[in-house]
Amino acid sequence: MNIIASGQTLGARVEGLDLAQSLSDAQFKTLEQALGQHGVLSYPKQVLTSAQLKAFSERFGRLEVNVANMYQDPAIPEIMILSNKVDASGKPLGMSDAGQDWHTDMSYSHMIAFTNVLYGLEIPHRNGEPLGNTEFCNMHAAYADLPEALKTQLDGMTITHDFAKFWDKMRMEKGSTRPPLTPAQRAAKPPVSHPVFLTHPITGKRVLYANPGYAMRINELPLEESERVLSFLFDHQLQAKYQYKHRWQVGDLLMWDNMGTLHNAVPDYRLDEHRYIKRCQVMANRYFETAAA
Ligand code: SIN
Repeated sequence: MNIIASGQTLGARVEGLDLAQSLSDAQFKTLEQALGQHGVLSYPKQVLTSAQLKAFSERFGRLEVNVANMYQDPAIPEIMILSNKVDASGKPLGMSDAGQDWHTDMSYSHMIAFTNVLYGLEIPHRNGEPLGNTEFCNMHAAYADLPEALKTQLDGMTITHDFAKFWDKMRMEKGSTRPPLTPAQRAAKPPVSHPVFLTHPITGKRVLYANPGYAMRINELPLEESERVLSFLFDHQLQAKYQYKHRWQVGDLLMWDNMGTLHNAVPDYRLDEHRYIKRCQVMANRYFETAAA
């Protein structure tokens, strides 16, 4: 395989690998290291069944069935459909507004996420340009650039993350079809706390583990100071210099490291410009299970 770095703050393209075939241990190790180093990997021109997508994804860790329990592949609940398409009766074929603001998947979960694996089957284009791109921010770089005094102050502190924050915000957006969370869904994902800074299990370096989508408060600070510091961290981490954009093409498999990046799905396409993507959520159990136990 050939791993070609984007030359930007994040991102690399992996060529010469057919993901329908199972990975050797050496290939897996190489990809794992590349994911830690580049944050976002894309594999162009893949032809995959749902079963092959699942097999590739679960090489990286345990797959999570989304708590919303909607828009699952009929045969494989670990695969979620992200799409703005509807069937003949008008029923949505997928979640149409997934990830449409800056966030880190599963930061609201006790076991956090390692990687998301998305496979693009239909990608909207206008005037030859892809729409519905996925943007990322580099949290290794964001940590490194923080003022030293703030690194020292926040070292050892924790942030509460809440699944309901992002869900409820998306429900307020115009045209949202998201139902309110049921008491059972809320109970399944109660707020959790994670350190403000994580040591990244692949790179061994520190990353800023905060995100506007789910981070509610810094537990060890008075409320007002927590609001001020979180607002500073959100502005800091979203600066253009940390951003990278994946420009989708049909057949792309895209995966990213949720510990070292934030992401945002750009909703710049119309209802008649179809996007259809299959998604697996891989948890970070391979790195944290022993520690959690
Ligand atoms: C997500 O947040 O997992 C969705 C990203 C995308 O659809 O581009």
